[in-house]
Amino acid sequence: MTNSTITASIIKHQDEMIAFRRDLHAHPELPWEEIRTTQKVAEALDAIGIPYKLTKPTGVIAEIKGGKSGKTVALRADMDALPVQELNENLSYKSQTAGKMHACGHDSHTAMLITAAKALYEVRDQLRGNVRLIFQPAEEIAQGALEMVKQGAVDGVDNVFGMHIWSITPSGKISCNVGSSFASADLLKVSFKGRGGHGSMPEACIDAAVVASSFVMNLQAIVSRETSPLEPAVVTIGKMDVGTRFNVIAENAVLDGTVRCFNVPTRERIKAAIERYAEHTAAVYGATAKVEYTYGTLPVINEERSALLAQSVVRDAFGDNTLYVEKPTTGGEDFSYYMENIPGCFALVGSGNPEKGTDWAHHHGCFNIDEDSMVKGAELYAQYAWSYLQQDQF
Ligand code: NI
Repeated sequence: MTNSTITASIIKHQDEMIAFRRDLHAHPELPWEEIRTTQKVAEALDAIGIPYKLTKPTGVIAEIKGGKSGKTVALRADMDALPVQELNENLSYKSQTAGKMHACGHDSHTAMLITAAKALYEVRDQLRGNVRLIFQPAEEIAQGALEMVKQGAVDGVDNVFGMHIWSITPSGKISCNVGSSFASADLLKVSFKGRGGHGSMPEACIDAAVVASSFVMNLQAIVSRETSPLEPAVVTIGKMDVGTRFNVIAENAVLDGTVRCFNVPTRERIKAAIERYAEHTAAVYGATAKVEYTYGTLPVINEERSALLAQSVVRDAFGDNTLYVEKPTTGGEDFSYYMENIPGCFALVGSGNPEKGTDWAHHHGCFNIDEDSMVKGAELYAQYAWSYLQQDQF
């Protein structure tokens, strides 16, 4: 099922791929500021001969036209870095910008997709359809994918595939489970209004601090009593802003939090429960509540046939031992926006290797990747596209 020319091409371009990644690593750019990175991607596509359009303000959408007619499959890589200080002092290619770092491995995603593009371009005459290449900005603030979709990234696309290099997963392993992969990540703001007054005279007041405290304690019952134990969910209040002074009863309380879960019905149920808990907790004390629930990323739920295809590509290209079952993560990933109306899947490419010190958490200043994993990642991109287009039944 996989294509041996693609395999050979990826291996041939391995050193260039690592050099490309290291260059991006040394020059990290924050969301919506990926100007140099966009330029480097454009230059690489020019060198291969692949046409593209630049998206605004940053980002690239390219397309490899196959020699035979067929469907269009999209491959996506994100490109942005984080406002994190790199702590890897001994790296020859460490970040050259204080306070900015590729601490999530998006530099490797971009380099792997460029390398996959080289391989797919070599076999373009035999491709039964087209391969769309999406180089996406601003994943870390969950805005880039939505903007790329608006600017046409998945117009005419039949299937979409993405991946993340993953330090939690052992190096050499690849996971692409059917179903939940990343959680939805929503924002929550609850404002309670009571009546302020002297700290010694509660009878004349409605204490927003007591209302807010009670609400925070009640809230956890949503997870334990209102959602299925088989459907994981997290409700976190991370910030409370209550009151002004030690002897003044608080009139206002503003709480900020986040909600994570793995399917849309659970998400809707939690949202409704939060609104009910807020309103009724406030009512118990004679206060009022306002809930602002902001939808963040959707959960990433791998479509069954796409995930099974990715699994068979992994087995075919790398052997049964490479396939791994990684647990879903409660982190968010804006790849979900590409899959809102199009089937697809998202793989995790293991890069955790304690001997190389590449098992640090994503977003940590010591994060780094095992570059040996990149060959598999790049090949998976290319072979997934190849195999998808070869299939008649999809
Ligand atoms: Ni990331």
